[in-house]
Amino acid sequence: ARAQIGVTGLAVMGRNLARNFARNGFTVAVHNRSYARTESLVAEHGDEGDFVPSESLEDFVASLERPRKVVVMVKAGAPTDAVIDELVPLLEEGDIVVDAGNAHFPDTIRREKALAAHGLHFVGTGVSGGEEGALNGPSIMPGGTAESYESLGPILEKISAHVDGVPCCTHVGPDGAGHFVKMVHNGIEYADMQLIAEAYDLLRQGLGASAAEIGDIFAEWNRGDLASFLVEITAEVLRHQDAATGQAFVDVVLDQAEQKGTGRWTVQNGLDLGVPITGIAEATFARSLSGSVPQREAAANLPGHTAGWEVKDRDAFVEDVRQALYASKVVAYSQGFDQIAAASAEYGWNIDRGAMARIWRGGCIIRAGFLNRITEAYERAEDLPLLIADEYFADAVSAGLASWRRVVAGAAQAGIPTPAFSSSLAYYDAVRAPRLPAALVQAQRDFFGAHTYRRTDRDGTFHTDWSGDRTEAEA
Ligand code: 6PG
Repeated sequence: ARAQIGVTGLAVMGRNLARNFARNGFTVAVHNRSYARTESLVAEHGDEGDFVPSESLEDFVASLERPRKVVVMVKAGAPTDAVIDELVPLLEEGDIVVDAGNAHFPDTIRREKALAAHGLHFVGTGVSGGEEGALNGPSIMPGGTAESYESLGPILEKISAHVDGVPCCTHVGPDGAGHFVKMVHNGIEYADMQLIAEAYDLLRQGLGASAAEIGDIFAEWNRGDLASFLVEITAEVLRHQDAATGQAFVDVVLDQAEQKGTGRWTVQNGLDLGVPITGIAEATFARSLSGSVPQREAAANLPGHTAGWEVKDRDAFVEDVRQALYASKVVAYSQGFDQIAAASAEYGWNIDRGAMARIWRGGCIIRAGFLNRITEAYERAEDLPLLIADEYFADAVSAGLASWRRVVAGAAQAGIPTPAFSSSLAYYDAVRAPRLPAALVQAQRDFFGAHTYRRTDRDGTFHTDWSGDRTEAEA
């Protein structure tokens, strides 16, 4: 036994992770259900490092040093369970099974429990950065026991992306914490993408700029507060011309956005925990709406009664959209970090939010300069109840507020849909409001269902006899 880590499942992500381990000097055991894939990996990339190929799972397990570390990189769901079931009888106490796919965190909690009963560690880990990241350094979000991290952590940290010499990998927390944080990462990814798309639409429709011109604007924005991977690739996409038609590439892509489900899970969990993640929810629903073909066809001739958007100062307009994008983005991240805090309390994970922002600075899809600011905010106040209430972000949002309001109001007048921009502004105004009309909702609930209410002026729970003489009694 000489391999320090093993990878089973050598489709593109598994293959690239295995190569990344090898390139970083680890001896890697590799296995795949059909041996041809294992052979081709070694034939094509064997010179990158030390691979130990095995045809059977038994030989693969036997080639690993103890405690064995096996990364399972197969499809989420039943295929993952099938591989785990095959592995368990071959492993010994203290060995570590790592699920690096996009598993749903309740599955990870279940698997962790099942393997713990066999004396095994199960580490559900988020891995972000796509194929490229897996090969050259992803952001890695491992859950599981602290004990498993002692031997596994240094290997994962070594192959992860690094920013300022700091690895984009840390122990997130017990059992499902790693996959949970990856799920929220993806939810934030949805929100970020939708906000960028709305900014593009505003510039396209409001300003009448061409796709390529907007690409240039995004490239410019990528030099400031908005500097991020997603803004950078947006600039590239918008400048790209379709070879077949000579049109802007974005104009020949069908406008129906798909999803594999992590955004949906994030929204479902937000509802379960009662955390208003409106930015992520609007972004997820925006994808659903785009794919609602019969509804879109039925609505195609509905009137808009729109007013035109007369842009007098191009630069000022662009700056307004930039400010609105940044403020909305801060709100979306603030909501996502709220969700992490709520889940951490609910499931007993003790997640360090500042550390999550730190490991998202490189490797992952939402990597961005401003994540440093989030880490700093949680360093200033570990239990910060609301990210946008941190002094830095409060100032940043306040500086862009007038722009944000102009953009949302103008979009409403012009009939340009901005679900994420406008719901983020509504969230901002609601969360800062001294008093909300929720009081009326409580009164209505009491009226029709005797659901009771509390009062502003004294303690207790009350009910008013709405159908009788309307006297109030303590419930
Ligand atoms: C990542 C990505 C990755 C994948 C998403 C895409 O962090 O590397 O988030 O996980 O690209 O699953 O999600 P949708 O297909 O749902 O858009």
